[in-house]
Amino acid sequence: MKIAIILGTRPEIIKMSPIIRQCEKQGINYYILHTGQHYSYEMDKIFFEQLKLPQAKYNLDVGSGKHGEQTGKMLVAIEEILIKDRPDIVLVQGDTNTVLAGSLAATKLQIKIGHVEAGLRSFDRTMPEETNRIITDHISDYLFAPTETSKKYLLNEGISEEKIFVTGNTVVDAAYQNLEISKNRANVLEELSLKEKEYFVATAHRAENVDNKERLGRILSGFLQIYKEFGLPIIFPAHPRAVKMIKKFGFKSPKGTRLIEPLGYLEFLQLESGARMILTDSGGVQEESCILKVPCVTLRDNTERPETVEVGANLIAGSGENIIECTKKMLESDPEWENPYGYGNAAELVLQSMITDYSTEYSDDT
Ligand code: UD1
Ligand code: UDP
Repeated sequence: MKIAIILGTRPEIIKMSPIIRQCEKQGINYYILHTGQHYSYEMDKIFFEQLKLPQAKYNLDVGSGKHGEQTGKMLVAIEEILIKDRPDIVLVQGDTNTVLAGSLAATKLQIKIGHVEAGLRSFDRTMPEETNRIITDHISDYLFAPTETSKKYLLNEGISEEKIFVTGNTVVDAAYQNLEISKNRANVLEELSLKEKEYFVATAHRAENVDNKERLGRILSGFLQIYKEFGLPIIFPAHPRAVKMIKKFGFKSPKGTRLIEPLGYLEFLQLESGARMILTDSGGVQEESCILKVPCVTLRDNTERPETVEVGANLIAGSGENIIECTKKMLESDPEWENPYGYGNAAELVLQSMITDYSTEYSDDT
């Protein structure tokens, strides 16, 4: 059995890394197809280096562009490769344009699709990610739901139960595998002159936030208010999209907020775990703050990670005045919640359930 692992962005590299490591460990025949959706060193190569991942066999260098342009280029190029180097299963992770292109190319060639992190729903169709997830889930053959909640969403949409496997999220595997390494290999607090639990971390990159002048302005005002109220610095390793839009709208970094380059995964894990609190619109960062037991305030109007809110790790603030109220509330919380995303063995479960199911079907056919 041959697997093609298709990835293209920072979170996909990080969340696929435990699966890639398992493939190596188990001697599975696989290759990596990188679309090049992310390409800047600090959004791409740094993760291959830090996580000691093998080079991608194919890199499409698709780069940035409008949705149709970016997804279209990927679709054309992925199809060519899947025809030439046909796998039995294509594995995709999450909800990016890379995922949509990879799964569309595979389904038209009647190649089976495994969707890691299936069944997440924000119920907000204005988000490009929601469209990508829904389409991918409905054309996938193996749906790896991180939790029972995501499984329930899939069942509610009529997806048959035999296709769904609750595995936990590989974000836990990655965090557990790399947290200790990060403690020995990075000293980000010292480099940034920070003291444990005496700073906040912020990230923002969602199109609906950073591409919208009003929302981005309100988020930055929220950071200023937080600094005025608590006197702690806010460290904001900014995604290139956020940097571009802050510049375009003529905003300045508010007093107390330190806008820095995106960090490597090891440095970022360390920064997150030492933080007093995290403010974010990132999916992965909501999950990691929950796993690392650091309170989180989400700078969005909804989340496809309701488990983090249910266990008490996260509050949904939107982009306005609720930011300060939610921050106050979360600072009073006791971070002893349960981690809803599994035990750090999701990658093993993904491969085990997929291989068992595939082999059973194959032996039934013959
Ligand atoms: C994409 C995903 C989003 C995911 C995020 C992870 C889609 C629709 N969106 O958003 O779901 O949460 O990745 O980070 O797939 N840029 C660079 N260097 C890079 C990559 C991007 O400078 O390596 C800049 C470019 O100006 C580009 C912009 O960031 O136009 C946006 O990049 P893009 O890949 O389109 O979307 P993301 O915001 O990264
Ligand atoms: N991350 C990182 N460096 C940073 C910011 C984030 O390594 O400066 C990691 C973070 O630990 C998480 C992932 O990037 O695993 C989240 O990616 P992102 O926020 O870009 O995308 P999302 O999860 O929202 O799709």
